Amino acid sequence: MFAKTLHAALTACALCVAVPAMAADENPIDARKGLFQGMKTHMGPMVAVAKGEMAFSEDTRNHAAGMLALANMTAGLFPAGSGEGKTGAKANIWSDAEGFAKAVEAFRQAAAKLAAADEIAFAPAVMELGKTCKSCHEDYRRK
Ligand code: HEC
Repeated sequence: MFAKTLHAALTACALCVAVPAMAADENPIDARKGLFQGMKTHMGPMVAVAKGEMAFSEDTRNHAAGMLALANMTAGLFPAGSGEGKTGAKANIWSDAEGFAKAVEAFRQAAAKLAAADEIAFAPAVMELGKTCKSCHEDYRRK
C-alpha cells in the first residue's frame, strides 16, 4: 500500500517538474508584456539614432530587424481570455477585433518599412513606427 502511494506521488511529481519547462504554457499576459518590453528596448536606441544622438550602425539594423520580428508576433499575443487579470489590454481588442487587426497591420507594415530603410530613410521611418505604437495604445491600452 505504501509503495503504491509512493509510486503515485513520484509519478505526480515527475509531471510537476515537467510543467515549468513548457514555455508554451507561459501565462499569455506575462509573455505579452515581455515582448512589449522588448519593443521598448529596441525603440530606445533607434530613436537616439533618428535624433542624431547615436551613429547609424550594424546594431541599428539589428534593432529594426528585432522590431519587425516582434511586430510579426503581435497578432498572436492576444489569445481569447487574456483580457482578464493584471493587464492593460482593453476589452475592445476582442470586441473590435477588426479595428485591432488593422492597428496590428499598420504596425507590422511600419516595422517592415523601417527594417528595409537605409540611413537616409531611417529617421522618418522611426517616427512613423512610433505613431503606430501610440495610436494603438490610445485605442486599445488602458492607462
Ligand atoms: C496593435 C496594438 C499595439 C501596438 C502597435 C503597440 N502596442 Fe504596446 N501595448 C499594447 C497593449 C494592448 C498593451 C497592454 C498589454 C498588457 O498589459 O497585457 C501594450 C503594452 C505595452 C508596454 C507595457 C508592457 C508591460 O510591461 O506592461 C510597452 C512598454 C509597450 N506596449 C511598448 C510598445 C512599443 C514601443 C510599441 C511600438 C514599437 C508598441 N508598444 C506597439 C498594444 C500595442
